[in-house]
Amino acid sequence: MHNHKFPFIDRRSALKLMGGAAATGLATRSFPTPAIAQNAPLKVGFMLPYTGTYAPLAKAIDNAFRMYVDEKGGKLGGRAIEYVTVDDEAEPAKGPDNMNKLVSRDNVDVVVGTVHSGVAMAMVKIARESNKLLIIPNAGANAATGPMCAPNIFRTSFTNWQPCYPMGKVMADAGAKRAVTITWKYAAGEEDVVAFREGFTKAGGTIEAELYVPFPEVEFQSYLTQIAEKKPDGVFAFFAGGGAVKFVRDYAAAGLKKSIPLYGPGFLTDGTLPAQGEAAEGMKTTLHYADDLDNPANKAFRANYQKHYSADADVYAVQGYDAAAVLAAGLEAVKGDFSATQALYAAMRGAKLDSPRGPVTFSAAQNPVQNIYLREVRNGKNAYVGIAAAALADPATGCKMA
Ligand code: BEZ
Repeated sequence: MHNHKFPFIDRRSALKLMGGAAATGLATRSFPTPAIAQNAPLKVGFMLPYTGTYAPLAKAIDNAFRMYVDEKGGKLGGRAIEYVTVDDEAEPAKGPDNMNKLVSRDNVDVVVGTVHSGVAMAMVKIARESNKLLIIPNAGANAATGPMCAPNIFRTSFTNWQPCYPMGKVMADAGAKRAVTITWKYAAGEEDVVAFREGFTKAGGTIEAELYVPFPEVEFQSYLTQIAEKKPDGVFAFFAGGGAVKFVRDYAAAGLKKSIPLYGPGFLTDGTLPAQGEAAEGMKTTLHYADDLDNPANKAFRANYQKHYSADADVYAVQGYDAAAVLAAGLEAVKGDFSATQALYAAMRGAKLDSPRGPVTFSAAQNPVQNIYLREVRNGKNAYVGIAAAALADPATGCKMA
């Protein structure tokens, strides 16, 4: 139900306020009782970049969330699920308006979003102000589960630090002493480089140059020329979606692949391999997922995703699936009573997911504690090589839960 009077107040607080109003003779009949609310469908608002360079990531998240709900017979904790979608276009400037559409106009129960770290930070701010439950199924902005952490904010993906810090040691162990970094210039890329630099310098490496490309540009030629001139031992890159496809192809076409190995967090090769083809073969990346992880949950997940969508699942699908799984854990604990906020959040925080990526628990900051895998592209798959960091928790610097 849309609450015009209290656009940023949750239903429980609104009921309290209206209870006060009842004492002064104002009508409260338009508010559903908890018993009725418990039977009503739960409204999930997806705020995702359905258009632009990150569109395939949005689709995978949306697909797999719905697939999880379908696997549970269309209900979580006894509640049917109703969906509302907003295309955020990976556009930070439009973030507040788009989030407000879901929170105030559509009055969804939970927002699931988004992919882009800059957009996510706008969502986090509004989630904190409105107390709306927010589950982040991709964006890695460290602050969301750092200084901006809150009891109503959960993430089922990663912090930008998590997959990039271990890559520093991986590259150093492979013999790289001098590296160049290249990324889109926005929060995700910048935080990735900071994390990589921390791991690489700790392992004895030095960073020769940091190159930044405006987001979401894909004109890489002048940057590739600079890399060729600097002749580093290796390159660390963050791009994802359509940008990753183009970068990996351009890197190989420029003749750099054989002489200067290209590394990065696994976003560089996840969900992109059919379009990258031979250009990606042999690339090593670090991420919290690999296609061929040998566990029953992953096998069932990939088979069902293929059946539903005639496509291979990727890390983004895993994160969307787990967003539904953590919501299910909460709703089951409170038997669908979404107004039992504290018990709902406690159950979500305490969830132990049997995820396709392997075991997932949640840190006190409500971010996944998970393995980071070293993978290698082999025959068009991100194949498991080993564990680069086991059960890695983000440091969550600055998180103080209210
Ligand atoms: C981010 O903006 O946080 C992000 C986007 C795509 C892949 C990974 C991270």
